[in-house]
Amino acid sequence: MKFFKILTFVLCIVFFSCKKNTLVEVVDVPSVPIEAVEVEGGSSKVSEVKANEGSFKMIGLAYEYKDLEPYFDAATTEIHYSRHHLGYVNNLNKLIIDKKYEVMSLSDIFRNLNASDTDIRNNAGGYYNHNFFWENISPKGGAEPEGDIMGAIIRDFGSFDAFRSQFVTISAQYFGSGWSWLISDKTGKLRIITTPNNDNPLMRTLNINGIPLLNLDLWEHAYYLKFQNKRREYANTFFSIINWKNVSKKYDEIPNKIEIKVIDSAVSLGSDSLVKPKKEVITVKKPEITPKKVEVKTEEKPKPEDKKEVPEKKYPGKEEESEFE
Ligand SMILES: [Fe+2]
Repeated sequence: MKFFKILTFVLCIVFFSCKKNTLVEVVDVPSVPIEAVEVEGGSSKVSEVKANEGSFKMIGLAYEYKDLEPYFDAATTEIHYSRHHLGYVNNLNKLIIDKKYEVMSLSDIFRNLNASDTDIRNNAGGYYNHNFFWENISPKGGAEPEGDIMGAIIRDFGSFDAFRSQFVTISAQYFGSGWSWLISDKTGKLRIITTPNNDNPLMRTLNINGIPLLNLDLWEHAYYLKFQNKRREYANTFFSIINWKNVSKKYDEIPNKIEIKVIDSAVSLGSDSLVKPKKEVITVKKPEITPKKVEVKTEEKPKPEDKKEVPEKKYPGKEEESEFE
C-alpha cells in the first residue's frame, strides 16, 4: 500500500512537471502583431528600363504598364517589356560586338543575316518585333481604322470584321511561339502571315518581301498570366487597343506599289534605335483613280431622274479591282 502511495506521488509530480513545461512553452511564444507587408512588384517605371551599353537602346513606351488595363494586365506588360524585351536588346548588343553587324541598321542586319546566325537572328528579331508591337497598341486604341488602310482592308479581306476574324483565327491556331502579322506584300496587297520564333517579314531568309503594318506577339509570355491557354481571347482583346492611327500612318508611308525594292521605311523605331539608318528610294507606282465621265447636256436642265452622280467611292471594292490593275 505504501508502495502505491509513493508511485501515485511520483506520477503526480511528473504530470504537473510536464504540464508546467507545456504551459511555459505556450506562454513563451511571443505574440507578434501582423503588419502589412508591401510586396515589391510593378515597381519599375517604363522610363527606368535601360539597355546596357551598346548599339541599340530601349526606345520606351508611350504609356505606363497599367495603362493597358483592363485589356492587357500591368504585371504581364511590365515583365514583357522590362525583362523579355530588355533581354533581347542586351543580348543583341553583346552578340554583335566586333562583328560586321555592329555598325549596321536593323534593316541591314535582317538583309544580311545568314540562316546560321541563329542567336543574332533571334535577338535582333525579338528586339525589332517588340518595338513594333508596343508602338502599335495604345490605351486609346481600338475601334476600326480610317483612311486608306481601311479601304485596303475592305479591298483585300471583304470587310473589317472579316479581316479581324481571320487575324484572330490565324493567331489562335498558330502552333508554338511566333508572331502574326498584317503586311503589305510586293504587289501592294494586304496579307496576314505568321513567322516562327522571332522571325519577321524583313528577314531576307524568309523570302516574304512584305512591309509589316501590324503584329501580335504569340509567345506565351505575352498573355499566359492573364489569358492562360485562351490565345483566341488574347487575340480578340488585342483589337481593343490597336493603335490604328499609327498603323494607318505606316500604310500611308508605303502607298500601293508594283515593286518593293527597299523596306527601310518600315523600320521606324525612332532615331535612338538605329545605327546609321540607311535611307533609300522606294520605287512607287500608285494606281490612279480616274472618275467616270458623265455627259450633261447644256441646252436644258436634266430631269431629276436623268441626273447621274459622279461616283465618290474612294477605295475600290473587289468588284472594281480590275480598274486598278
Ligand atoms: Fe514577347
